[in-house]
Amino acid sequence: MRVTMIASECEPWAKTGGLGDVVDALARALGRPGADGSSRVDGPVDVFLPRYRAIPAPSDAATATVRVPDPVAADGATDVEILSVAADGYRLRLVDLPAAFDRDGYYGTPSGDHPDNAWRFGMLCRSALETLRVEARPVDVVHVHDWQGAPAVLYRDAWYWGDFTLGRTAFVLTLHNPAYHGWTHAPDVWTLGLPGSFGDAYGLDLLRTAIERAEMVNTVSPTFASEARTPAMGKGLDWALAGRGDRFVGILNGIDTDQWDPAADRALPAVYGPGSMAGKAACRDALARELGFDPDAAGPIAGAVGRLDPQKGFDLVADAAASMTDAGVRLVVLGSGDPAIADRLREVAAARPDRVAIRETFDRDLARRIYAGSDLFLMPSRFEPSGQSQMIAMRYGTPPVVRATGGLADSVIDVDVAPDEGTGWTFVEESGAALAAAVARATAVFAAPDRSRWDAVVARGMAHDWSWEAGPVAGYLAMYERAIAARR
Ligand code: GLC
Repeated sequence: MRVTMIASECEPWAKTGGLGDVVDALARALGRPGADGSSRVDGPVDVFLPRYRAIPAPSDAATATVRVPDPVAADGATDVEILSVAADGYRLRLVDLPAAFDRDGYYGTPSGDHPDNAWRFGMLCRSALETLRVEARPVDVVHVHDWQGAPAVLYRDAWYWGDFTLGRTAFVLTLHNPAYHGWTHAPDVWTLGLPGSFGDAYGLDLLRTAIERAEMVNTVSPTFASEARTPAMGKGLDWALAGRGDRFVGILNGIDTDQWDPAADRALPAVYGPGSMAGKAACRDALARELGFDPDAAGPIAGAVGRLDPQKGFDLVADAAASMTDAGVRLVVLGSGDPAIADRLREVAAARPDRVAIRETFDRDLARRIYAGSDLFLMPSRFEPSGQSQMIAMRYGTPPVVRATGGLADSVIDVDVAPDEGTGWTFVEESGAALAAAVARATAVFAAPDRSRWDAVVARGMAHDWSWEAGPVAGYLAMYERAIAARR
């Protein structure tokens, strides 16, 4: 099976969120041999990614020029450079089109989305498909991610139906964040270079149209796959998703357990693992000192890392802060985003500097020190298709407190619901009070004179295998097989 991906993010070249991690880790995991030593896919997975301004030209790249139909070009086509380079376990193919990608911001600037996003990501997809067509080596699966990859499915239906390389290819679409549709207003639809039958008087919803046309569609957890079929959580796609029946599935993300390993993490002051937890205590001590907390004070340190926005529930963290700190909890928040949420967190930190710290930066190493040095990890998301931080936290021996939605509901087992299986604490109501109550339940176990219950929760989270190979890879391969069968 030969697999090609098209995505707008891929670690370590371009990342704003979990999408970048998933594309990198899944492409690598698919390219590794299976347990029986046989290869899962034919050759390395190709990943097409825009060459954004910040991505330097790889010195060892093979360069090819592909002439790509371009509705905006005076003569109807543009030469695009494709820079191909061996990445860690897959082949990265940078689409180098400076007019589209050599600018600040992948999707926009602080003043808004780039106005020509439909053309930009249309050109990403069209360049990928033209490259495959010119290379004339048949591809079994083109796997596209989010709305930026969606135009590929539309182009297939418009222009590649009978093509030698792509005519039999199955197209698979993964929804990581269905809140963004790639909505294209009618006056801009022509820049996509599609026949007039696409879109209506108002415009074209790229994501919804790709949902209707891909052989298989998935999102990144089974619970979110159910939630997304409802008007409340479907972001306007519930009807289209429900219409796909069993061709729309949920596959919970994994994490790259080599990149996220407390026993080998160079960003930590001390390493540790199940059975050798002294290093975790050293990490906690160091984190407390770094943040200006008393390392010997009672009560748990609760960490939260991510974009400060209501989708991630950081306003609930601000709402719960006073009641948590009154109960002896220390809180560290790493992230930036919504100015109103940041203001409120700064206020609580100013009022209780001994108990609350906020770091408004993007600092990968500090994130790792927080995963390792905290006792609890907070993820009160309103909406979370999968989430990966809760898995990382469990692997680092830091039980999560999460709102039971999407992938959080599928990965964290509440200690009070299943005392012998629990790996964290969950709550349902979208409120600071519900978050604080769940943290209070966790604190009661943390502070109990007998630490055996707490240690068991930590140990269960650390023992779980969250790797891509342990679960999700098989889910993707099965979905690819179904998509191929559907196409043929
Ligand atoms: C999006 C989702 C997140 C998911 C990630 C990767 O960022 O919001 O829940 O983990 O994509 O699939």
